Amino acid sequence: MANWILIGMGLSLLKLGDVLMDILWEDSAVLLDNKDLLIGDLHIGLEEKMRKSGYRLIRMHRKLLAKALNLIDRTDARRLIILGDLKDSIGNPTDNELYQIDEFISELPVPLVVVLGNHDGGLRNFLEQKGVQVYSSSGFLDSGYFLFHGNARPGDRASEAEMLIACHWHPVVRIKDKTIYVERAWIKAPTIYGPPLLMMPAFNDILGGATPDEINEPYLDIEKAEVYTYDGTFLGLWEQIKNKFK
Ligand SMILES: [Fe+2]
Repeated sequence: MANWILIGMGLSLLKLGDVLMDILWEDSAVLLDNKDLLIGDLHIGLEEKMRKSGYRLIRMHRKLLAKALNLIDRTDARRLIILGDLKDSIGNPTDNELYQIDEFISELPVPLVVVLGNHDGGLRNFLEQKGVQVYSSSGFLDSGYFLFHGNARPGDRASEAEMLIACHWHPVVRIKDKTIYVERAWIKAPTIYGPPLLMMPAFNDILGGATPDEINEPYLDIEKAEVYTYDGTFLGLWEQIKNKFK
């Protein structure tokens, strides 16, 4: 199995077959083959739900768009691929969500591909009418990578990939000091399909998430998963470190 190669500045490079994968750790993003920029879990419209709990947050799509535009510019990406949960509501989109998503899409300088997440109900037609290429949550194989959301199992061709990449879990670790704080994490776990699964942290930085112990997928060996902090520091295999991070 290929190993991570640290090349400094928080960037890791992995070569699988003929395809390069750059992990943009602190950006919650991956660049594939120097052209496809992957992000996921934007949860546009989250502020509507938060408002019902008493939190008054501003609309987030401009901030998320600025982050995405900066990354596209820095990496010279030619395509943006969102691995699900573009919006927050699980059912049909609200008018507020459609307004924000429309603005987000219309200002992107590159074509957009969306793998639907479990929060993207009722969004397919809207996206397709805007010229977005849309895949179901079970994902697709592209250039040696199988890209899916994570709420459903990966599709039939997962075993043909060198690496599976998904979002969905918003992985985090709980770090204990004088207090306990939660930090986004990257996880690489063995799977029954052969290729490992890279779980990406959420692109929206105010979301909560699941610790490795809370990720219960029958096709993953979470005990043998490699756990990395948000900045790319390797913490260890989950079975070796979990007592420190519970
Ligand atoms: Fe999500």
